[in-house]
Amino acid sequence: MENRHVTLIDSATGKKIDLPVLSGTHGPAVIDIGKLYKELGYFTYDPGFVVTASCESEITFIDGEKGILLYRGYPLEQLAAKSSFLEAAYLLLYGELPKQAALEDFTQKIVHHTMFHEGIKSFYRGFRHDAHPMAIMVGVVGSLSAFYHDSTDIHNPRHREIAAYRLIAKMPTIAAASYKYSIGQPFVYPDNRLSYCGNLLRMLFSVPSDDYAVDPVAERALDLLFLLHADHEQNASTSTVRVAGSSQANPFACVASGITALWGPAHGGASEAVLRMLMEIGDLQQIPKFLDKAKDKNDSFRLMGFGHRVYKTYDPRAVIIREVTHKLLKNMGRSEDPLFELALKLEEIALNDDYFIERHLYPNVDFYSGLIYRALGIPVNMFTVMFAIARTVGWVAQWMEMMSAPQQRIARPRQHYIGPAQREYLEIGERK
Ligand code: CMC
Repeated sequence: MENRHVTLIDSATGKKIDLPVLSGTHGPAVIDIGKLYKELGYFTYDPGFVVTASCESEITFIDGEKGILLYRGYPLEQLAAKSSFLEAAYLLLYGELPKQAALEDFTQKIVHHTMFHEGIKSFYRGFRHDAHPMAIMVGVVGSLSAFYHDSTDIHNPRHREIAAYRLIAKMPTIAAASYKYSIGQPFVYPDNRLSYCGNLLRMLFSVPSDDYAVDPVAERALDLLFLLHADHEQNASTSTVRVAGSSQANPFACVASGITALWGPAHGGASEAVLRMLMEIGDLQQIPKFLDKAKDKNDSFRLMGFGHRVYKTYDPRAVIIREVTHKLLKNMGRSEDPLFELALKLEEIALNDDYFIERHLYPNVDFYSGLIYRALGIPVNMFTVMFAIARTVGWVAQWMEMMSAPQQRIARPRQHYIGPAQREYLEIGERK
């Protein structure tokens, strides 16, 4: 609709302004508040950005009421059924699904960049043996900017592209090395003949003294999980990458900042937290006690893997992952996994509980993903690292989109100041 606007009337002054309403392809229209301060002298107040669109984007769309997730317009379910992770990565980066030759070329380019500089190895030795692998990821990924000066000119589209390839390609190598370091095993060099996920599994689990064959079931499951986690529009970590990028920081530094935001249990750290919660609950009899804790406003405990800022129904990723968990455990002869049974029961009870019904709290992507990682032999403290590998695609796609936009402004939110009013300085002897 042309020239649609909303009219704001300031009850204090009677002043009236029209704010333009912009319609997107899907989703609620947005009110352009650009002239609000100039005309009425107000900022807007929206802690947590609950109703604030921070950017324009063509990459990913979520309909949280209907449980729809689209990558560049394609439904996630169709991509999950037919595409590989790298195919989805190409789609997210370039906007279209690749033809066969383009996919092969892209795969070659990613594979070409899997090794990291030998000098990076020595960084690992500086960490305590029991360092959380996410702590190592933050440090090592940030340090890439010290090694790849030929791809840090953010104003050069070719540099941006090479940096994107490097980040996507090196994440598995960096992640696997974090794990190997923590268990005192030698780092395994990437084998570029393998698939993206096959290579990661080999770098995680092979040792130089033994043969290692990639399990195709595990490889496919991991590839699917990565595809499902590849992008999720303006979530906390992606927004962090964009905010860092808006200051014109280099992409390696921006992605390192995304990793820090992902780490928390309200975001990507939830998969680790879910598994620890399931282990703590222990058996079916304990479920009511933990649900009561989750509902108790005086208790900080939350049902991990439940609830989402955007989804008010089933997270479509959780639907797919739940199904895959079933199949994978069966294929691996572990259909009796007690934690999976516990998770299913917990979900069933929570979904029938008024507290969860009224607040539209459903399982999210992290509720079942940890069970898959566990079945693949991936240790609990590596779950968020797995998420970071996959989400790197979304981070760099969103960063590239932002950096190639014709208009760029530093992200600089305002605040609602409620501290002391201006006052005079007191000498030390005069202070009360
Ligand atoms: N357990 C118990 N109560 C909950 C939960 C939960 N997991 N999630 C939300 N609530 C309640 C919350 O207490 C509030 O109740 P009330 O209206 O009575 O105050 C209401 O539901 C709305 O919650 P909110 O905190 O305002 O919602 P939010 O959009 O700010 O937070 C969330 C979203 C994902 C941080 C939150 O649901 C949560 O902490 N979930 C558990 C952690 C988790 O699974 N995170 C992974 C998110 S999906 C993957 C990702 O982002 O990486």
